[in-house]
Amino acid sequence: MINVFHIRIGDFGLEANAIESLTGILPGPVHERLEKISNPANRYRSALGDILTRFAIQSVTGLNAGKLAVDYGPNGKPFLGSHPEIHYNISHSGEYVVCAVADVNLGIDVERIRDVNFRVAERYFSKAELTDLMALEGDKRRDYFFTLWTIKESYLKALGRGLTKSLSSFTVIRDEKGFSLSGEHSAAGYSVFSCSLPGSYMMSLCYNGIEQEINLKELSLFEIVRLFSGAENH
Ligand SMILES: CC(C)(COP(=O)(O)OP(=O)(O)OC[C@H]1O[C@@H](n2cnc3c(N)ncnc32)[C@H](O)[C@@H]1OP(=O)(O)O)[C@@H](O)C(=O)NCCC(=O)NCCS
Repeated sequence: MINVFHIRIGDFGLEANAIESLTGILPGPVHERLEKISNPANRYRSALGDILTRFAIQSVTGLNAGKLAVDYGPNGKPFLGSHPEIHYNISHSGEYVVCAVADVNLGIDVERIRDVNFRVAERYFSKAELTDLMALEGDKRRDYFFTLWTIKESYLKALGRGLTKSLSSFTVIRDEKGFSLSGEHSAAGYSVFSCSLPGSYMMSLCYNGIEQEINLKELSLFEIVRLFSGAENH
């Protein structure tokens, strides 16, 4: 089973204070990383991503995740060197912070659905994806753009490659069973899940191996604060 946790930020100003108090329980290197993010909203989303991930790992595995050290791959993908059996990935956009945890490699992406210039698709999408996209009109085309975008990005994030890899080197295929990837050897080994989130957001997940059940859970900041306050006392 793949566990996907998402949290919707309410009031940035008020909640930032709650997050500031929670970061006190996180390891020193996390503080150092967060301090380098000068934009307060980005710093808040990033801190919440770290805290949400610890919450997710603790709920799924029972590990006390508050003090776990995070390591980084060559292109910045975070992972737990001390627990290589636990795979996770984080994404944030606008009001959402999302995190997926599983026992297989994965990547996740969330994006706010907004007006786009479809020239971007000509630049980044494969020929087949562009044909599928342009066959749609209006809101359907805009929404499908973000479906494709988030799926492609989540695959890149699963590989941990970021933009060091060409986005048109693989293709998202949609059929009656859902989505799959083709075009290169590793893509075929990944399964895809995609859904919209309230407030006009799209979220997609690519994970290694055959299709698994996706357990989607929405959390509130209150639940996270409660778990970590409890964890501190153990
Ligand atoms: C990290 C990257 C892969 C995604 O960045 P993004 O979409 O801006 O950000 P997201 O919110 O989805 O993900 C950020 C999180 O992913 C994780 N991350 C960082 N580097 C990563 C990597 N190489 N692989 C996987 N995950 C990574 C981190 O947890 C990061 O959180 P942090 O910023 O709080 O530390 C980045 O390389 C990037 O620039 N993406 C390209 C965007 C683009 O043009 N996409 C076109 C899609 S069609």
